Amino acid sequence: MEPAPAKPPAAPAVVVCRGERFRLYLDEPAILARVRALGEQIGADYAGAAAAGSPPILIGVLNGAYVFVADLMRAIPIDCEVDFYKLSSYGTRKVSSGEVHELKGVDARLEGRHVLVVEDIVDTGLSMRYILDRLAALRPASLRAAALLRKPDAARVDVPLDYVGFDIPDLFVIGYGLDYGQLARNLRALYILESSPGSDGERADGA
Ligand code: IMP
Ligand code: MG
Repeated sequence: MEPAPAKPPAAPAVVVCRGERFRLYLDEPAILARVRALGEQIGADYAGAAAAGSPPILIGVLNGAYVFVADLMRAIPIDCEVDFYKLSSYGTRKVSSGEVHELKGVDARLEGRHVLVVEDIVDTGLSMRYILDRLAALRPASLRAAALLRKPDAARVDVPLDYVGFDIPDLFVIGYGLDYGQLARNLRALYILESSPGSDGERADGA
């Protein structure tokens, strides 16, 4: 008989990234339970479109959203497609520069498609606002937005989100695809900075 697959080790309570301490905020089972619920909800919402031969297309925003997109797409129980959009990073800072630049547009033709933008986190909202404006110009049949995390206290522009995993405080987070100066994306859990990052003007890579 095959041995049972090994259970992943419990997430450490604290990690150090680039010399700064982050404490465990959401462990992998909590994240995946929420992602599964979002996938079920998205599947139900787009079931009619998919049955009519028009499956939704997820547009993941690189780099941060790639882990979330992979888990979310596998939690959606109907036909769906995926493509990616890439925005420039904010460099090794923890607060938004307020500037958004496109590094890679979407290859798929989106006119007449049901488009769902998938972000790791909506912080100021500037990136999501930029993407939604750009994609709306391509005349999709519908355009919605999903984010695993949202920081309501950091919003600088109002962006309506159709699917939100968790509302979190205005503190810098890493793991599950989110980075600090390109590191920590491979952590399976989400970690939050122990000291307040909002005041120091620093922020990890934004893309
Ligand atoms: P926004 O334009 O300020 O809403 O955020 C843009 C991007 O910055 C997000 O898609 C993330 O990639 C990144 N970002 C924002 N907050 C955090 C954070 O707390 N940790 C890591 N990356 C973040
Ligand atoms: Mg991002």
